[in-house]
Amino acid sequence: MPTLFSRRTSEPDLPIIDKSRIPAHIAIIMDGNGRWAKGRHLPRLLGHRAGITSVREAVKTAGELGIKVLTLYAFSAENWTRPTTEVQALMRLLQEYVVRELPELQKKRVRLRAIGRLEALPAGAQKKLTQAIEATSQNKGLTLTLALNYGGRQEIVDACNRALTDGHTSIDEKTLSNYLYAPDCPEPDLLIRTSGEMRLSNFLLWECAYTELYVTKTYWPDFRKRHLYEAVAEYQKRERRFGGL
Ligand code: FPP
Repeated sequence: MPTLFSRRTSEPDLPIIDKSRIPAHIAIIMDGNGRWAKGRHLPRLLGHRAGITSVREAVKTAGELGIKVLTLYAFSAENWTRPTTEVQALMRLLQEYVVRELPELQKKRVRLRAIGRLEALPAGAQKKLTQAIEATSQNKGLTLTLALNYGGRQEIVDACNRALTDGHTSIDEKTLSNYLYAPDCPEPDLLIRTSGEMRLSNFLLWECAYTELYVTKTYWPDFRKRHLYEAVAEYQKRERRFGGL
């Protein structure tokens, strides 16, 4: 039988967050998988694999908090330059994730999406991804967006080219926004980067113009519910002015 204090004793470290001021969109640069593995004398792939547990936990916690969109940087347009074995392992992991996780995503009413130059992903991964996206398309809970073969500069270039193809001869901010990969998605309120690096690494360059940045030294495979709560608590201390006073 739960006592009045049961929540507190089972999760003693969770910071208090104001449930009425939850960021609508959180984006995460999941960094530090390689260093996490190296510190344990394990192959890098096991770091990526361990990162899946953190993905699961972030999705669960984001849903519980009522966050509308969670965008995860799972594979950058520049990650192709890594050794072939690592690229192949990451693609296998992606495929595995969307297949194995589908029942849980359905149960939690999560809608899966993907942004990036998806047509360049291996055919098998593309197929499984498309199936999971279609299967979850009517879900009304959290939107989980995976950034795959994604680059912020590439996204802007692709948007301009599509606008040109549609006959636009000049462009303004509104028009360009309408041609981004997920034009209906609110811009991120909070961008989290794990492993202590202070870079954007070509992630959501257009969308993060006024996003609050939060960097934690925690490596992605160690990222848990408490870390997401800490990031949201810190976000709630910020004063967002969007260039105004
Ligand atoms: C960066 O760490 C992480 C990546 C390039 C891949 C992230 C992928 C996952 C967490 C698993 C797949 C995710 C999904 C959603 C299927 P790094 O390798 O650059 O780490 P390092 O800087 O310590 O070397």
